Amino acid sequence: MGATVAVGSLGGAPGVTTLAVALASTWPAEGPAVVVEADASGGDVGAWWHMPTAPGMVELAAAARHDSSSGPGESGVDPLSRSQVLPGGVRVCLAPVTAERAAGAVRLLAQHPGVLSSTDAAVTVVDVGRLTPRTSGTHIAAAPGIDAVLLVTTEDLAQLKRLQDSLPGICAAIANPVVAVVGRRESSRELTEAIQVPVAARIPLDNRGAALIRGQGTARFGRRRLMEASRGLAHHLHHAVLQPAGTGAS
Ligand SMILES: Nc1ncnc2c1ncn2[C@@H]1O[C@H](COP(=O)(O)OP(=O)(O)OP(=O)(O)O)[C@@H](O)[C@H]1O
Ligand SMILES: [Mg+2]
Repeated sequence: MGATVAVGSLGGAPGVTTLAVALASTWPAEGPAVVVEADASGGDVGAWWHMPTAPGMVELAAAARHDSSSGPGESGVDPLSRSQVLPGGVRVCLAPVTAERAAGAVRLLAQHPGVLSSTDAAVTVVDVGRLTPRTSGTHIAAAPGIDAVLLVTTEDLAQLKRLQDSLPGICAAIANPVVAVVGRRESSRELTEAIQVPVAARIPLDNRGAALIRGQGTARFGRRRLMEASRGLAHHLHHAVLQPAGTGAS
């Protein structure tokens, strides 16, 4: 079974969806990589790439409702089977753009998180949107089949303060979240001192790299600084976070 990684924020749109797609694009293990847009406030990738959002996350959630498996890896439902392929090869289970249509489906996924663990994908990256207490996204991030949780923030003082104050509550629900900071204004040492947790990755502000992930622009994907940083973070998650935990990821 491949790895399942949840990616979320505490608000402020720091670049969760962008990093989720970048991580899937740069995942170091062989095999398909799939992103599941499990953001209750709605998805963005379908609009970015002018794609219909079905089949996608809603169909995955509908199938999950009839799934009687008891744990991760035992489900007959696989995110890959409800995904669409972006140019470049990453697969995405797209979410409808509005919360009205997405929230109910994400609630179902939170009740059946086993369907998020793909048996055939090298990695399933689950974009859970904003991690606020007692929401579906937080339930998904805390589910047993999730191998790692990546918290994304910018260097904005309010976001760092929110992260620092929220971390004790988040850590009570989620073991060892990994923190990625978008922006490179401050040093990692200063940031670690400010938020009192190690910063695992720095993601550069890279407008052209982000535009490529939105389906715009013509620059070389693999060469962008955003992709290089994502490759480093994917390598860290795959080798330092997931494999020692004995997930069987290869
Ligand atoms: N590293 C980056 N450098 C430059 N722009 C970025 C970067 N990451 C994301 N962006 C841009 O910032 C905007 C928000 O990004 P994104 O949608 O990924 O954030 P999000 O955290 O998922 O937001 P939301 O909470 O609304 O879902 C987008 O226009 C995206 O292209
Ligand atoms: Mg998003």
